[in-house]
Amino acid sequence: MNRENRVSVTVIRRLPKYYRYLGELLKKGTNRISSQELSKMTGFTASQIRQDLNNFGGFGQQGYGYNVEELHAQLGKILGLNKVYKTVIAGAGNLGQAIANYKGFQDAGFKILALFDKNPKLIGLRIRDLPIMDVDEMEEFIKENEVDIGIITTPKENAQDIADIYIRAGVKGIWNFAPADLRVDDDIIVENVHLNESLFTLSYFLNNRQEYVRD
Ligand code: NAI
Repeated sequence: MNRENRVSVTVIRRLPKYYRYLGELLKKGTNRISSQELSKMTGFTASQIRQDLNNFGGFGQQGYGYNVEELHAQLGKILGLNKVYKTVIAGAGNLGQAIANYKGFQDAGFKILALFDKNPKLIGLRIRDLPIMDVDEMEEFIKENEVDIGIITTPKENAQDIADIYIRAGVKGIWNFAPADLRVDDDIIVENVHLNESLFTLSYFLNNRQEYVRD
């Protein structure tokens, strides 16, 4: 897809939600769904959904709707979820351990190989079956294992150093939880996660109930 007909980031950010709902429908044994029904589930309008999916060739049929299994598989492919990604975590504290403990990421194809930390009390321990290793060994480990994604759960002061190691070692993407703006080359994909933005939005609506629209 070239630059002119590139799909907008806003549309891309909606795809995981469609994918999640379609996964739930699949589990329930639903074979097909209309854009109106999908609209009720997702909160997006039916025409929005049709437009979004048309960006990728439109999988629906007039009068039939969408085949749930097919659309789920197609969206999975579009999202790159038909592959396995090798990942590591830098920072084996509260959040790093929580991510390592959550089996759902592995099940979705994000295989965590190891955690890295600089605290000697943590190095050598295991989270489930995953080793916590010395961060000094991380660069070598990433190169040897051809790791695709580096996760950052260190304090913000150390986040740039970790990102630099990741980039030197050849990771392609960084999932950054530290509240730090990372400086990286254009060819490195960084996805920042800020749980407190969501929490502060909740706080806003608690204080402005009349403006709340369920999404
Ligand atoms: P924590 O203090 O429990 O864990 C941080 C770990 O990083 C410690 O084990 C420490 O030894 C390790 N560390 C420090 N420097 C390092 C280095 N250079 N190399 C390797 N390991 C190093 O902290 P917690 O609660 O797990 O938070 C981790 C990060 O995640 C913080 O930056 C925090 O602000 C952020 N955070 C972000 C959230 C979000 O929504 N994005 C939510 C919660 C925390």
